[in-house]
Amino acid sequence: IRRAGVIGAGIMGSGIAAAHVKRGVATTLLDADEKALGRGVRSAFEDVAYNKKTKRPDVQRTLQAAPLLHATSELIDLAACDLVIEAVVENAEVKRQIYSQLEPQLRPEAILASNTSTIPITRLAEKLTRPDRFCGLHFFNPVKRMQLVEVIRGRQTSDETVASVVAHAKRIGKHPIVVADGPGFLVNRLLFPYMNEALQLVSEGVSLVEIDRAAKAYGMPMGPIALYDMVGIDTAFYAGRTMWEAYPDRVAASPILPMLMKQGRLGQKSGAGFFSYKNKRGDAQPDPALDPLIAPYCSPSTTKSQTQIISRLMLPMLLEATRVLQEQVVRDPRDVDFGLIYGLGFPAYRGGLLFDTDAVGAAKVVEQLREFESLGSRFRPTPLLLELAGSGTKFYREGRA
Ligand code: 3HC
Repeated sequence: IRRAGVIGAGIMGSGIAAAHVKRGVATTLLDADEKALGRGVRSAFEDVAYNKKTKRPDVQRTLQAAPLLHATSELIDLAACDLVIEAVVENAEVKRQIYSQLEPQLRPEAILASNTSTIPITRLAEKLTRPDRFCGLHFFNPVKRMQLVEVIRGRQTSDETVASVVAHAKRIGKHPIVVADGPGFLVNRLLFPYMNEALQLVSEGVSLVEIDRAAKAYGMPMGPIALYDMVGIDTAFYAGRTMWEAYPDRVAASPILPMLMKQGRLGQKSGAGFFSYKNKRGDAQPDPALDPLIAPYCSPSTTKSQTQIISRLMLPMLLEATRVLQEQVVRDPRDVDFGLIYGLGFPAYRGGLLFDTDAVGAAKVVEQLREFESLGSRFRPTPLLLELAGSGTKFYREGRA
């Protein structure tokens, strides 16, 4: 892959373009909206200019990178690309419409990949002429820091496409894992029950700061509420919708996200979401203006112990991980732990969620789940967890991992 194209100059698109340019890959960044394109190019250059040694921008790096980044609003400018990564809004119809215009312009051997967060690749490929040259290539936010990419194999994706994209991901400095198709693939499938539970806790009257503090005490690099703001409330809502539709028994649609969107509180990118980012350093600050907005959706304030909050956040993620293993979304437990560590910054010292569960013991986890029985099926032990608990075996047992 000599030339790459990226469609969509938002947070993800500009980050993906920068990741390519940093590794010397000529890249065309496209956005139909010229203002968004301007912002995307600027953000990509800011990213590229950063010198990790001095921790400052370095003009030489920008000068070196400048000839490699080409910005455009015309699809025809992607015709020479060997790989085009689509990173537009999380809407299947919009994506398919772009593909129908783009595919006839590409060479037959070019690969088209989607950075979709949750929409099954096979569904996106429905109207393509060359579905074998199409796959998912899912990056994580912030692209400059998160090393994981998921390469998602749709039903018709060819082995050659998967192999080429895996090699390309390594070339731009990422750690790829190949995952099977399905809503949320691997990492977002595990992330959404955790994020969903954070909103349940908010609606039960637990404070935003307490929720985030508990997640950090467990070892996560940031709390789920701040993560909503970083990912973008709109992105979280659209991605969440795919997950609610797919798994209505365990992911509830919270009215809080659409309310924030209506208020224009889209997270860090708009200066406010759950928190405010309007101070000089752009750090997350509790925002009193939010309180009356969320009050109609929350019970009166309540306190829960940090241990309870951690269990509420982590157990639904663990249960989803057991389902993912049973459905063979990935080949073995290491893929789950690798994905969480490199995609979400899960504390590496715990070895990963499954490794950590092995240390605690599945039987003990089944016991912990009893405390949350009244919360419904999202806290019900899964067949795999019960099997491990019953037999006293581990996820990382011989023969499995
Ligand atoms: N290029 C490379 N490195 C850079 C850089 C650049 N342009 N700019 C800054 N850095 C490096 C600095 O050198 C420094 O590195 P060091 O730690 O080695 O010294 C580091 O970045 C400092 O940056 P920050 O102070 O901003 O970083 P923090 O240490 O505070 O971490 C964080 C910030 C990476 C966001 C961390 O909190 C984290 O990992 N959060 C979790 C993020 C997460 O979960 N992402 C996934 C979201 S889900 C998703 O994206 C999927 C989608 O489909 C919804």
